[in-house]
Amino acid sequence: MTENLTTHDFCIRLLIVDDEQTIRRLCMTVGESLGFLCLEAESGDAALAVLEEQPVHMILTDMVMPRMSGIEFLEQVKRDYPGIEVAVMTGHGSVETAVQAMKLGAYDYIAKPFAPLDDLRLFLRRMADKVRLVEENLYLRERSETETAVHGIIGSSGSIQHVLRLISRLKDTRTPVLISGESGTGKELVARALHFRGNLANRPFVAVDCGSLVPTLIESELFGYEKGAFTGALRSRQGLLQSADTGTIFLDEVGELPLEMQARLLRFIQEKEVRPVGSNEKVKVDVRIMAATNRDLEAEYKKGTFRKDLYFRLNVVTISLPPLRERRSDIPILAAFFLERLAPGRGVQVSGDAMKALLAYDWPGNVRELENCLERAVALGDQRILEVSDLPPSIAQAEIAAEPVDSREISGHPTDLRATDLEDIERATIERVFSQVNGDKALAGKMLGISRATLYRKLKRYNIGVREHPPQSTTLQ
Ligand SMILES: Nc1ncnc2c1ncn2[C@@H]1O[C@H](COP(=O)(O)OP(=O)(O)OP(=O)(O)O)[C@@H](O)[C@H]1O
Ligand SMILES: [Mg+2]
Repeated sequence: MTENLTTHDFCIRLLIVDDEQTIRRLCMTVGESLGFLCLEAESGDAALAVLEEQPVHMILTDMVMPRMSGIEFLEQVKRDYPGIEVAVMTGHGSVETAVQAMKLGAYDYIAKPFAPLDDLRLFLRRMADKVRLVEENLYLRERSETETAVHGIIGSSGSIQHVLRLISRLKDTRTPVLISGESGTGKELVARALHFRGNLANRPFVAVDCGSLVPTLIESELFGYEKGAFTGALRSRQGLLQSADTGTIFLDEVGELPLEMQARLLRFIQEKEVRPVGSNEKVKVDVRIMAATNRDLEAEYKKGTFRKDLYFRLNVVTISLPPLRERRSDIPILAAFFLERLAPGRGVQVSGDAMKALLAYDWPGNVRELENCLERAVALGDQRILEVSDLPPSIAQAEIAAEPVDSREISGHPTDLRATDLEDIERATIERVFSQVNGDKALAGKMLGISRATLYRKLKRYNIGVREHPPQSTTLQ
């Protein structure tokens, strides 16, 4: 089993505890021959001192030692370091101690003297396999947690692929980015990806919802204040801009900022310093600026409700997130992603009719609304298949809108005929997913959120998979 576990190599650290030097030496030799890093201690106390200073994966301990017995030592390790595996060495005829040790959580026991030595070798190797497996699972879990948190931008539509390309191009720069899109299209997700995938990932990311700040408090929130600057300012406080120093400040709903705050923000961007309210001193602050808006800021500055100079400062690059109804081909993949996240391992799928409704609905609340709708359906439905009846009535009754769907979203060929009907969308979606997974039907079914039988039926109906697919799907734009 260990042979496969090579994704994150680490060296097993084994601590050998015995008052007899010859036994310690013997175990060290065997441990080192297995590639472990071996540490030794001549008593339970000495071993506990080692544990305080160094990481250890597994311990092999004698049972009969002066001062602290093996049992006492085992108890203390299991209490203070529950993650460490402990195996015990027992002398002849001390089965009872071995049983007691196992009850206290020992991994296993081995009888001394070790003859043949190969027994000890095999014993330690098995123990290390277990440690590696546990570590590996831990590592994989942590990795997948950060990956979904950070890289969880799902979508195969041309527009999402374009966004992903922009993110990788911009993540390591300090270029100000304006992210625009309707509510629930994933603006904050994109801002976080830009920060956490880039080289500022270990620096602060501070999100400010400009729309929810009380107008009279915006200035002190952003710039901080000195003690006594106003009634209630009992002590001085750092502003959000300063908290984001060396990292990213994300100004969400920046269009909601009152004009006078826009002027102060502009000055901050130009001068890179903040002066807390009530203070005469300026503090240097170096942050990357990202902003998001669901308004049309260009129209706003033309109307005079948003400062044109600030608009151009924030909008060095724009990432626009189209509404979900303009990229319906993402719906099946998003649905599969959310269902797996909402009910991990349960393999919940969307029935064909329910998927038709999801594809037809207009999603004014965009991806967030889709997520909420599935969350509700998973909570209410008790089956593995989500049916139309599990959807809210407005969605269940949706019929494909009269408005044409952007054909580029569907076919990948801008010059294709406009696809206006649901079957075309379905065919194109299946085709795209199918080619993305290189014809792996099980995976395609999973990504599409349909059963294997349904997938086979549809592949046959649309004549997909008959010809060879290129190994990589063609990208749009
Ligand atoms: N492409 C996507 N892939 C996966 N999840 C997404 C995607 N887009 C949005 N989401 C999810 O939808 C929800 C809404 O996203 P987010 O908060 O980023 O949207 P927003 O544009 O900032 O919305 P609002 O304007 O309402 O603040 C989040 O739970 C987010 O994880
Ligand atoms: Mg948001």
